This record gives sequence, structure tokens and C-alpha cells, in this order.
Amino acid sequence: MIEHGHVPVLLDEVIETLDPQPGDVIVDCTLGRGGHALALAKRVGPEGLIIGLDRDAENLAYAGERLETSGTPTMLIHDSFVSAARHLRAMDRKVDIVLADLGVSSNQLDDAQRGFGFQEDAPLDMRLDQDGGESVMTLLAGIEEGELAELIRTYGEDPYAAAIARKVVLERQTRPITTTGQLSRLVREAYGPRARSSRLHPATRTFMALRIALNEEIAALETLLDLIGRGCETAGSGGWLNPGARIGIISFHSLEDRPVKQAFAELDRRGLAARIIRGMIRPTEAELQANPRSRSAKLRAVRVTPPATEQPG
Ligand SMILES: C[S@@+](CC[C@H](N)C(=O)[O-])C[C@H]1O[C@@H](n2cnc3c(N)ncnc32)[C@H](O)[C@@H]1O
Repeated sequence: MIEHGHVPVLLDEVIETLDPQPGDVIVDCTLGRGGHALALAKRVGPEGLIIGLDRDAENLAYAGERLETSGTPTMLIHDSFVSAARHLRAMDRKVDIVLADLGVSSNQLDDAQRGFGFQEDAPLDMRLDQDGGESVMTLLAGIEEGELAELIRTYGEDPYAAAIARKVVLERQTRPITTTGQLSRLVREAYGPRARSSRLHPATRTFMALRIALNEEIAALETLLDLIGRGCETAGSGGWLNPGARIGIISFHSLEDRPVKQAFAELDRRGLAARIIRGMIRPTEAELQANPRSRSAKLRAVRVTPPATEQPG
């Protein structure tokens, strides 16, 4: 059993790169179990502030309790990070550090009842926010075959997307697809003998694709990158980011990393933010040994450029 349900990835690297200072205001867009936030809280101290968002109310509450021990003021927001700038405007707060550690936490993956995995048979849910929205079960009941194939191809990069979609549509003509075990079996059947030569479990990519699509994870990331872009443009003139603010994003697959890389490169090119890291930081061999789930993590970070001061003429 992992302590607190989740091991924060690239923790030392996040602290070193984002360089929290006493009194800083921090937005943790994906609070999770609060591992990163707690380490940041210890650095910013009682004069600082941690604003934590999460779509998962249970994770948010858990992290909130952990953060209480830090002595740093904390505000918890049960919402998607796509609304971060709106909340900050309402609070009239400007931010020195933004962190987004994308995807799902280990406790979410390991809780069979959430339906993210297929090691145990459980209801096909996969909602990050348990308080609303439709489940994968509902999605699979109504989606058109072509759309499902496209979704599995785009978000799962699975070469057998069309065959998997066909299987799903045939199955649901006789009975609804309601459990992780049932979906996993259908994917395996779609793979046929190819399942034996697959390095990953054949269902891995389909499950990831459905999770990303259901929770609109890529669209959310793109909105966050837009908000960051606008924050950089308006830093020092009423925007939500302070000049000199540090922004770090940890991604776990190329669909996440590509837009982050492009957005940060564009900010750099426009002189709005400078890359703190050349390229990205990956976990060390020691971290990979201790936490194999960190294997695909990539940290990219930028610092918001202060606006040029007018030279007296
Ligand atoms: C990898 S975990 C973060 C772990 C955290 N850094 C820690 O140290 O415990 C990702 C978290 O982000 C949340 N999440 C995913 N997408 C989100 C979004 N659009 N807005 C807010 N939270 C989101 C998930 O519910 C999950 O709790």
C-alpha cells in the first residue's frame, strides 16, 4: 500500500525548478493527494498561500487534511483547472507558481470501483469527478462505431481501433457493456492472436483513450495553456500571473506533452516567458526504481517575463 495513495513524481525537480519562496501564492491545478503541494507549502510558509484544484472531491479533501499540518493557508476548489483564472479573479489573487501534474493519481487507478483499470472486474465508470457527468458505460451505449474507432485511434494510438469498435458495437446489440472485465475481454478478442505479441496488455490503450475522451483531458489542457498564455501577456497589468511567476507542467504521454512543448516554445519565442529547463526533465534511475509509475513523466517549465519598463525619453 503506497503511503497517501500516490507518490508525487519528480518532487525534488519540481521544487528546484519552481523555486518556491516565502510568501509565494501557489496554484496547484491538480492537487491530487497533496504530495507536491505539501512540499511547496513548507517552502512558502505561513505568509504564503496554496490554492488547490481537483475534479475529484475525495482527493481534494484528503489533500486538504494533509495540508492543514503545514501551517500554510490553503484554499480548496472542487473544479477543473479550466476555471482556475475565473476563481483567481473572484478572489483577487495573483499567482507566483502554477503546477499541473496531469492525469490520474495512483489511488484513483488502484481503486477498482472507479473503473480505470482492468485487473479486477468492476463497473465501467472512469469519471474523474464522481459528482456528475456520464460514465464510460453510458458513453459506450450510445457512441457511433466510427466515432469510437476514431477516439481509440486518437487518444490510445491503438492500431486495432476499428476492430475494437466493431466488437463493442456487436456486443451491445445483445447486451450492454457495463464492466471493465467485459470491455477488456472484447478488446482481447478484437486483437485475436496478436494479443500474444502485444508488449502491453491489449486493453491498456483502449482504457486510456476512453478515460481521456470521457474527461475531455486534452481539451482541458489546451484551455489551461490558453489561460497561461493570456496570463503571461497580462502579467503586471492586471492579469492573474505575477511577473517572474514559474509554471511547471508534468505530462505522461505524447498527446499531453506535445501541446505543452509547443505552447511553452511559443511563449519563449514571443518573449512572454523563458524556459527554465532546456527541453524537459525525466525521472532519475533511482526514482524509476522506487516508483515505476513515474516512467513516462516529463516536466517542462517556464518563467513569466516581466514587462519591459518604459525608458524615460
Ligand atoms: C497525477 S494526480 C496529481 C497528484 C499530486 N500532484 C500529488 O502529489 O498528490 C492528478 C490529479 O489531477 C486531477 N485532475 C485531472 N484533470 C483535472 C482537471 N482538469 N482539473 C482539476 N483536476 C484534475 C485528478 O483528479 C488527480 O487527482
